[in-house]
Amino acid sequence: MNAATTILTSADANEKARQSNMLSPRFYTTDHEAFDRLSVEPLRAEWDAMMKEYEGDNNHDHFQRDATFMQELEACAPEWSPEMRQELLDFFVSSLTSEFSGCVLYNEIRKHVKNPDIKQMMTYMARDESRHAGFINMSLRDFDLGIELGKLKSDKPYTFFKPAHIIYATYLSEKIGYARYITIFRQLERHPEKRFHPIFRWFERWCNDEFRHGESFALIMRANPELLQGFNLVKIRFFLLAVYATMYVRDHRRPILHQAMGLEATSYDFEVFRITNEITQQVFPIALDIEHPDFKRGLDRLIEISDAFDAAKARGGLSGWLGQAWHGARALGTFGRLFLMPMKRQPLLEQPRMRPTW
Ligand SMILES: [Fe+2]
Ligand SMILES: [Fe+2]
Repeated sequence: MNAATTILTSADANEKARQSNMLSPRFYTTDHEAFDRLSVEPLRAEWDAMMKEYEGDNNHDHFQRDATFMQELEACAPEWSPEMRQELLDFFVSSLTSEFSGCVLYNEIRKHVKNPDIKQMMTYMARDESRHAGFINMSLRDFDLGIELGKLKSDKPYTFFKPAHIIYATYLSEKIGYARYITIFRQLERHPEKRFHPIFRWFERWCNDEFRHGESFALIMRANPELLQGFNLVKIRFFLLAVYATMYVRDHRRPILHQAMGLEATSYDFEVFRITNEITQQVFPIALDIEHPDFKRGLDRLIEISDAFDAAKARGGLSGWLGQAWHGARALGTFGRLFLMPMKRQPLLEQPRMRPTW
């Protein structure tokens, strides 16, 4: 991660979106034929009801700015310190990249699968993510820092993930995305004076889209229960930890942004973990023990190691290279210890679908 990348020009913003590393959102490709073999038949009624919701498209008019957007922005922007402005731009670029990553992935699957259920679901989700990415891009364009999405699609490296891994990782990132946006929205609802950018007013209806995207993957997993058994539980454990840990380290690099909202990165992230753990009871028979003191200790250690890694990288030369290797090994060890912590067991909820009530 290059935390030090300062976004001053449109080229910087586009380069930041293109970077692929441990902490930045990635683009994915997968084996489309395996998606054809999935069946939603065991949950046909729930599936059809969900498709009807997508078809109803209750957010079709949501991602447009209202009359007061620019006035609010013009009132807020002069208050930002240069550091705050950087963190906000970094937040926009990484959020946009992650929204667009979903859009690209869902679109590719839609184009290649023959399974009509999966095709339909991917069409709706790509539609939503494209709106989300476009809406954030408007806020970058306010500063002449818009991302060229077509170029990003062709230039950013792609990572191959097996379909099962795509399902676990995407389910989690949709649900964690919901938990993040709703936590911010509720906080700013209580403290409107801390809303330092008008975009946060859009988060409530926005995160309902993410919640529904997560529901789609939840139904796929519940309808194909082999995805939730045997060795797959080890994979789920890995993805839970990878997604939680990445978020924790990344959020602690934007302390000013969280403070400005009246949220402190650690307590905000633990609230997001708590909500996500509650939601994942719909699919995962295991959960990370977020209350165990060793869990937080391990995550804090990962932040410290990640800072040391960056310092070594910035130092360069042989000592920088050795430093990176050493801190990389330490990160692996810490992640391994977190991975081996006992998991909490939980019975699956009887009803696979949930409502976004947080
Ligand atoms: Fe989205
Ligand atoms: Fe989404």
